[in-house]
Amino acid sequence: MNKPDSKENLLLMKPFMPPLEEFQIHLELIWASRMLTNCGTIHAEFERALCEYLGVKHICLFANGTLALMIALKALKLRGEVITTPFTSPATLQAIYWNNLKPVFADISEPDLNIDPSAIEAAITPDTCAILPVHIFGTPCDVVTIGQLARKYDLKVVYDAAHCFGVEIDGKSVCNSGELSILSFHATKVFNTFEGGAIVCHDEATKIYIDTLKNNGLDRDFQLTGYGVNGKLNEIQSAFGLCQLKYVDDIIAMRKAITLKYRELLSGIKGLKMLPDREGVKHNYSYFPVLIDPAEFGAGRDELHDYLKKKKIVTRKYFFPLVSNSPEFNMYKTAGLPVAEKIANSILCLPLFHDISDDQIEAVVHAIGQLNKSGRNQN
Ligand SMILES: Cc1ncc(COP(=O)(O)O)c(C=O)c1O
Repeated sequence: MNKPDSKENLLLMKPFMPPLEEFQIHLELIWASRMLTNCGTIHAEFERALCEYLGVKHICLFANGTLALMIALKALKLRGEVITTPFTSPATLQAIYWNNLKPVFADISEPDLNIDPSAIEAAITPDTCAILPVHIFGTPCDVVTIGQLARKYDLKVVYDAAHCFGVEIDGKSVCNSGELSILSFHATKVFNTFEGGAIVCHDEATKIYIDTLKNNGLDRDFQLTGYGVNGKLNEIQSAFGLCQLKYVDDIIAMRKAITLKYRELLSGIKGLKMLPDREGVKHNYSYFPVLIDPAEFGAGRDELHDYLKKKKIVTRKYFFPLVSNSPEFNMYKTAGLPVAEKIANSILCLPLFHDISDDQIEAVVHAIGQLNKSGRNQN
């Protein structure tokens, strides 16, 4: 067992793997057919299965979420400024950058840590063409207010839903909001195909156009229609996704139980805040972030990170530093981002994966409690 006091580290996350025998059946079919990629039958079956599972109209599979986001922005033929959150993965920013668009950062709000709609409105200029919100850690943004803003100012909305596989608002997929949403199936996500991603869109014409863009501009008759890139997901990864899909409800249920256990055990610790569930939302429990108030907790976030590392417990400071602080994007900071700065300096994601044991969760909580006590005693 992976005990923190054993030689092995307790990892931040571990991907779920379906039974090898189930994947092997697919592999044998692929070996026999020699159809390895180019949007074959397994790719088509995976797209259908995902549409059904997620309750969305159309899905375009991609080799990863970053390419999906790049193509989503390209498909909308945007020019000018895109308002986005500074509290995100660099991938969100890279997609804007690679489209020659200008990112404009709007601050986030608590407790959901998502982009603040009032900050979006304040950042709108005549050059604004789109909003790119991120449903951070799988908690949905205020899609209703963002939708109203988009209509009022005639803006497109592309959601970065990389953390949101299976998340629903009032029984409907969060990916039904906005013009387009993108998902990531990276190995660290709740649902993975090793690497992979998707664009969710709402009509067939858009799907056909995006499928052309992801195939180097070749349409369904292999005619070159214009620009594009190779963003295709292959048959082996599609087969892996089909195998995973059977288990995703169980995985999310296991993650929920782990989250509830963490919440119960950590609830007495002063200066440590956890993210709440949102009413009406089916969460996927993709991360377990905590916020550390150094004065109350008796030690800072960085100290906690280093202390846990010494105890062989791996944590991550997602998302620190803010992407708006990297030299390339720093020039696009129009106003202060006080909430995002505060959160980035106080957040720590704790180990969370489907089969983390009770002993391991208790060991993480015990170590946090130890530092909390010794830190507070020093004051
Ligand atoms: C918020 C966010 N957007 C986009 C991505 C990009 O996804 P991928 O790693 O599949 O390219 C990630 C990946 O971690 C992410 O966290």
